[in-house]
Amino acid sequence: MWLCGLTSCNRAPTFSQDIAPIIFRNCSPCHRPGEIGPFPLLTYEDVSKRAKNIAAVTQARYMPPWPADPSYSHFIGERVLNPSDIETIQRWVADGAPAGDPAKLAPQPQFTRPSAATKPDLVVKLLEPVKIPGDNHDHFMVVKIPYEMPQDRFVRAIEFVPGNRKLLHHMNGHIVQYEEKKKNPFEGPYVVDRESVRTLEDTYDAIHLLNDDGSYPELTPSVANYLPGGVSPAGYPEGIGGWKLNRKGAFLMRDIHYGPSPVETEDQSHFNVFFTDKPPIRPAKEMQLGTLGISEIIPPLIIPPNVVKTFTTKTVTQEDISLLTLNPHMHLLGKSFEAFAATPDGKTIPLVKIPKWDFRWQYFYTFPKMVKIPRGSTIAAIAVYDNTAQNPNNPFSPPREVIGTNGSMHMTDEMFQLIMKYLPYQPGDENIGLTNPFVQ
Ligand code: HEC
Repeated sequence: MWLCGLTSCNRAPTFSQDIAPIIFRNCSPCHRPGEIGPFPLLTYEDVSKRAKNIAAVTQARYMPPWPADPSYSHFIGERVLNPSDIETIQRWVADGAPAGDPAKLAPQPQFTRPSAATKPDLVVKLLEPVKIPGDNHDHFMVVKIPYEMPQDRFVRAIEFVPGNRKLLHHMNGHIVQYEEKKKNPFEGPYVVDRESVRTLEDTYDAIHLLNDDGSYPELTPSVANYLPGGVSPAGYPEGIGGWKLNRKGAFLMRDIHYGPSPVETEDQSHFNVFFTDKPPIRPAKEMQLGTLGISEIIPPLIIPPNVVKTFTTKTVTQEDISLLTLNPHMHLLGKSFEAFAATPDGKTIPLVKIPKWDFRWQYFYTFPKMVKIPRGSTIAAIAVYDNTAQNPNNPFSPPREVIGTNGSMHMTDEMFQLIMKYLPYQPGDENIGLTNPFVQ
């Protein structure tokens, strides 16, 4: 017996009329050539041949992956199927996945993401690929990609395009900007093992990042990040965020993490840079709570074996701020994550809640509109870790004590971070939409 969907009670659902719109909106952005989905979901053939699998993963809410609780807070690019979509898929599959009338088929979506449609103004790429040894170990590297342009420019957005999508796990990208004190930003070497350069000083020495007189060049942090599930570069409306980019400089991937591979292989990731003629009127700032951040983790991040343990970290805002983007970060033992702000007049502003942490999907969540956090508010994050044998992602069997180390970044160590991009508040910010030009 059918239960009725909200939209289609009387007629059996078909691909053309009912399924294609659901798939195009919620699945195709990742399931298309060049993206992270392992196969395309663009045509009737693509979808019908996996119909049963699709019915299962949507009903289990395994796909589309969207760990943030949509009843807590909303973000740009939110992909969550409503119950009637899930049921329509179930009915369609049970009916034998009919194609329906091709004349009624919605047109395939046009993806306007820069790498696919627009030409970047500048592509910054390593001259030679990074070699990844075939030793079945994780590799953490520091990689520099120098560039030189005829003149200084303003940058609106930077997109990181991973070369080896299979092995590249995460990457934090910064820019080192040179003025006249550095003649040649192209001096090698370009790649060094992260383990061999413990401190920032070592790193700068090892890949020749310092100015010619030994002084430190200006560093613009976190211009592009890539984390599991990351599908879109950060981008805000014109004038918000953005950077000035000096004529000479180098992209610095201080932490680029490649997963284990049994055979030697390589990666030649690159950055797409999009210019604008307008200076960044309101450059975004970054605040980081927890590991490597401004706030202490309470209690210290030590997770004994066979326990589920809760940690908190918090800070008090010193000025009115407008929040743009959040990134909650934990590793394999993460179980849940919640962040909110408590205002001085007793209100709670929900920020993000992840009831079932999945380390594979670590998004940068951008609010649809800026969120004002008044001065004197407490921004708090609560993270729960599951170090029992019941956690299928526990890297140790039997479970062992796991500690949070300051930035070693190994997947078997833990981290607890909330990274926030924000602006000093200006009246009216609450009404400014943050449509990311790069999110579908
Ligand atoms: C954010 C990107 C993204 C979106 C959106 C997305 N997928 Fe996926 N999908 C992936 C990735 C990556 C994998 C492979 C890794 C995995 O299985 O976790 C995958 C795997 C799958 C699988 C194979 C699962 C298995 O192991 O059997 C199916 C089926 C699937 N997706 C269907 C869908 C459908 C249907 C939608 C939309 C309702 C969707 N996906 C939306 C990225 C995405």
